[in-house]
Amino acid sequence: MIEQATQIQAEALAAVEAANTEATLEEARVKFLGKKSPLNALAGEMRNLSNEEKPKLGAALNAARHAIGAALDTRKQSLQDAADAASVEGLDPSMPGRSVATGSLHPLTIVKDRAIQILRRLGFALADGPEIETEFHCFDALNTPADHPARNDSDTFYFDSGKLLRTHTSSVQVRTMEKQTPPVKIIAPGSAYRRDEIDATHLSVFNQLEGLYVDKDVRLSDLKGTLEFFYRAMFGDNTEVRFRPHFFPFTEPSFEIDVKLQVKGEAPKWIEVAGCGMVDPAVFEAINESRGDTAFDPAELTGYAFGMGLDRLAMIQYGIKDIRLLIENDTRFLSQFA
Ligand code: PHE
Repeated sequence: MIEQATQIQAEALAAVEAANTEATLEEARVKFLGKKSPLNALAGEMRNLSNEEKPKLGAALNAARHAIGAALDTRKQSLQDAADAASVEGLDPSMPGRSVATGSLHPLTIVKDRAIQILRRLGFALADGPEIETEFHCFDALNTPADHPARNDSDTFYFDSGKLLRTHTSSVQVRTMEKQTPPVKIIAPGSAYRRDEIDATHLSVFNQLEGLYVDKDVRLSDLKGTLEFFYRAMFGDNTEVRFRPHFFPFTEPSFEIDVKLQVKGEAPKWIEVAGCGMVDPAVFEAINESRGDTAFDPAELTGYAFGMGLDRLAMIQYGIKDIRLLIENDTRFLSQFA
């Protein structure tokens, strides 16, 4: 009987070795270790043996079960390994990976989007206007006299048609008031063009964000509060903001706004970031004349306007020392903002 056990074990090991699939391996397991296995049948005959022989057969049966179980495990693992290897055949896992180049937003776009986000929270709607403008929208309606230096050929790009590349986004103030009735509360980000000498802080094309709020009882304190809030939201709660009296033809009073920039290890510096002021009644009058009504009655309405430089914001935000980097599209520069 012990010989029989050894015989069954040999048969079982051969069957396990021959199994090429999980299914045939499972069949072998059921056949040789299941309830109706020949080893179990042998065990059933144990009671016919002498007390001396019983433990010997018992040991032989145990050894056979053990060996078959171990063979099943080993075979199962090697079938799994073979399947794994087949699924990655032809693949060299030691080859270096190919990195995926991801694009990123331009620093100007990042700053512009944040500025818009902050101002929209304050109730400003987005407005737009053409970059090729008439003198009326860029200058006349904005109370800018014919002899103002900004209107000079040497400062502004004119077309033969008499139109020009807008020198500021303030033309969108005019475009918006021509189309809408008060109250008006808009922001207008966009490009502006000037014949500037190009250097580290000047380009002939730059980006502004215009703001206009016209309603009954809009005050200078509203303008101050709004812009202080804006620059603190932009650059941090401790940002210092300064209003310096200035002159613009289309606002009265007018101010330039400086933000105190504190770069670590450097002396603090005031940087000019915007122009602003209370809308000059002469602008409302020009708008009314263009509209042919009195929707913007200067006796009823007041308003404030501001125009901020977006390139400046980006330069302050990221410590960019040369504005030309913003238009050169050098990926070594741009990838820093990814
Ligand atoms: N348009 C002015 C400039 O470009 C800025 C400004 C806008 C000033 C609105 C006052 C009000 O310098």
